[in-house]
Amino acid sequence: IRGKRVLVTSGPTREWLDPVRFISNPSSGKMGCALAQEALCRGAEVTIVTGPTAERPPWRAEVVPVETTEEMLQAVVARHEDCDVIIGAAAPADFRPVQRSEHKVKKQDATRALDLEATPDILAATASRDSRRVYVGFAAETQETEKHALEKLERKHLDLIVANDVSAAGSGFAGDTNEVTIYSRREQPVHVGCCSKREVAVHVWDAIERCVHR
Ligand code: C5P
Repeated sequence: IRGKRVLVTSGPTREWLDPVRFISNPSSGKMGCALAQEALCRGAEVTIVTGPTAERPPWRAEVVPVETTEEMLQAVVARHEDCDVIIGAAAPADFRPVQRSEHKVKKQDATRALDLEATPDILAATASRDSRRVYVGFAAETQETEKHALEKLERKHLDLIVANDVSAAGSGFAGDTNEVTIYSRREQPVHVGCCSKREVAVHVWDAIERCVHR
């Protein structure tokens, strides 16, 4: 992967309801930063497109800060064709308010229904099966992990998908550890038992390098 260009999406996105409130999720950006760090260690040039997090990206990475899922999509659309590997480690918000209030919504109005619409799927919109780029997704599931992961691998035209059961202990969003299974189109699944996100990143990059060099 030395000398290749890598793009990693990381962290959550925010979808604002009004100037002081948003819809988001507990993604910490730790997995994305660990993947970026490991790519740098292997000699790649790394861009990290990140939603708001407390995690400090590795200093040698180019950092593109974004806030909403739409902004994250535009940042990836503008860059992915120049990259060799694209990893979607972000947890973009899946819904956004149809309308954002210009002013703070008053408490008296808080019981009214909130109309939501789906946000665009960044990986599905940018990955394509016939490209020479390698696209990697994550699948955070709470049930039937393998079934849902394989379905996402197909539907989003990915080369690899890293699945975890976010309801299992030591796995998922905000913690320092993760337990994952890496599914690919050509290999048997690789299970990685509970370990640090940095170690998970090593296994994910081993699997990506096998895709790149095949
Ligand atoms: O469909 P689901 O959200 O479970 O898929 C997760 C994978 O898809 C992750 O790799 C995530 O970064 C990516 N994703 C995306 N755009 C979205 C939602 C998820 O690229 N709007």
